[in-house]
Amino acid sequence: MNTLNSKNNNNSPIGFFDSGVGGLTVLNKVKQILPNENFIYYGDTLHMPYGDKSKSQLLEYSKDILEFFEDKGCKAVVMACNTTSSTIYNDIKNDYDFRLYPIVQSVAKILAELPIGRLGIFATRATIESGAYQNEIFKYNSKMKVFGQYCPKWVHIVENSTKNTEESRQTIKADLLKMLENNPEKIVLGCTHYPFLTDVLSEYAPADLFLDPAVDFAKYIKQDLERSGLLTSSVLQNKEEFYVSANPEQFKISAQMFYELKSNPELLTFKNLV
Ligand code: DGL
Repeated sequence: MNTLNSKNNNNSPIGFFDSGVGGLTVLNKVKQILPNENFIYYGDTLHMPYGDKSKSQLLEYSKDILEFFEDKGCKAVVMACNTTSSTIYNDIKNDYDFRLYPIVQSVAKILAELPIGRLGIFATRATIESGAYQNEIFKYNSKMKVFGQYCPKWVHIVENSTKNTEESRQTIKADLLKMLENNPEKIVLGCTHYPFLTDVLSEYAPADLFLDPAVDFAKYIKQDLERSGLLTSSVLQNKEEFYVSANPEQFKISAQMFYELKSNPELLTFKNLV
């Protein structure tokens, strides 16, 4: 849905959510091109990793978070999570009175138009098993060969800030070498946590092989808000609020590898505590 209601207007905040710090890679890109907007970020650290959860669990968690954003009067919500975009977006896309942006569907056309024939996708297990990237890209380009691979340990490596340990580096390298057997011309970092690992990945393959879809996603969001008359009319607001469902201290530590938090994350849980 895309209408304004009594609770929101073009100066209302934009909500972001993910299972933890990953969505900050998207917030970061959006903030660069929309510096006057207000943002509310929710990291569902209690239920992280989303990539191992069932569709019904992901629906339950996402609905709670989306209701929270509704109560906060958000004008738009960014599903800064490939896993929920791939698995549950279609089930809830018409249920809310704000613009809802899913990362996978929003960038699929741009990926499909890349001048290449072989595309790798690194993502979570749930994203890969849903086939969402393949299906969405196929709508625009049926010729592109898309190779999906999940990397079960990467989200934990990012959330626990252990990317520089020898064990983590070997895990990342082994997963990358497996993907390289497909000879991809580009590899999409199809989980918002993975751009935190770009420096490690770039030690084993050229940096320009990796593609962070957040860059195009941010442009897409800006264009859509513009078209919908929803860009803020005030200058230099840029307030940011952060909420997490567990371990605010660890969130802060992991986030700061990538993003400078302007305020401390607040602990906030909903009814579904398991
Ligand atoms: N960062 C999320 C994604 O883009 C979810 C990662 C997870 O919690 O497994 O898919």
